[in-house]
Amino acid sequence: MMNGLAVFSMLFLLAKPFSAGSANIEIDYCIADLSLPRGPQGYACKDPAKVTTDDFVFTGFRGEKSITNIFGNNVTRANHTTFPALNGLGLSMARLDLAVGGVVPAHSHRTSEMIVLINGTIIAGIIDTNNTAYYKVLLPGDSMIFPQTLLHFQINVGKTRALAFVGLNGANPGFQIASTALFAGNLPPEIASAITLISPKEVRRLNQIFSGNIAAS
Ligand SMILES: *[C@@H]1O[C@H](CO)[C@@H](O)[C@H](O)[C@H]1NC(C)=O
Ligand SMILES: *[C@@H]1O[C@H](CO)[C@@H](O)[C@H](O)[C@H]1NC(C)=O
Ligand SMILES: *[C@@H]1O[C@H](CO)[C@@H](O)[C@H](O)[C@H]1NC(C)=O
Ligand SMILES: *[C@@H]1O[C@H](CO)[C@@H](O)[C@H](O)[C@H]1NC(C)=O
Repeated sequence: MMNGLAVFSMLFLLAKPFSAGSANIEIDYCIADLSLPRGPQGYACKDPAKVTTDDFVFTGFRGEKSITNIFGNNVTRANHTTFPALNGLGLSMARLDLAVGGVVPAHSHRTSEMIVLINGTIIAGIIDTNNTAYYKVLLPGDSMIFPQTLLHFQINVGKTRALAFVGLNGANPGFQIASTALFAGNLPPEIASAITLISPKEVRRLNQIFSGNIAAS
């Protein structure tokens, strides 16, 4: 005979949506139906009868990437909106192209990240909650891990473009750049200045640098 707790646990398991990273015995996959609203666990599934092989293929990493933004980077993301097959699988990837001197500025996301450098020479680093920075020059073939939520960055310190790929353990990692969050959004300059101790003059300069110039992706 099942007690109340067991019944409750079973109901919970049955009701469990298709969710990040967990083995799911109900369905094989859940290609996102982007026409329906997204819930906290991801999108509803596309009608399985309409799924084709192409739903499982992402071609967005092909080819040359132009680099036009102020940071000198181009971040191409295979996330659950650009690659709906990732929906619910707890996984995504991105391609990073960095111009000479280009950076991925200090940023954080909900997921951990592992980078693999393919071409070029970069410094990659993290800053932990004790403000200790761990950073190193990476060469092609090298990998580094950036634990979830910690600020991290990459800088192309080589003489050629750098190319890297990253894997992230979430289909919707979020991507929050510290500098643009403070100086490229709708935060009034007085508040940005007050909460950073950066002078109002410098904040206005940063606002101008980022204004109309962002596409930091
Ligand atoms: C990234 O590269 C693609 C392909 O060249 C281009 O369409 C896009 O505008 C580039 N993005 C940035 C931020 O440079
Ligand atoms: C997925 O990536 C695209 C292209 O970089 C971006 O515009 C979009 O905001 C990302 N979607 C989510 C949910 O993060
Ligand atoms: C990697 O770098 C080499 C030498 O600079 C270059 O020939 C090659 O095209 C680069 N490959 C990619 C994918 O960027
Ligand atoms: C952070 O600093 C505190 C105080 O010095 C120390 O006790 C703690 O072990 C440090 N944590 C890490 C992750 O280094």
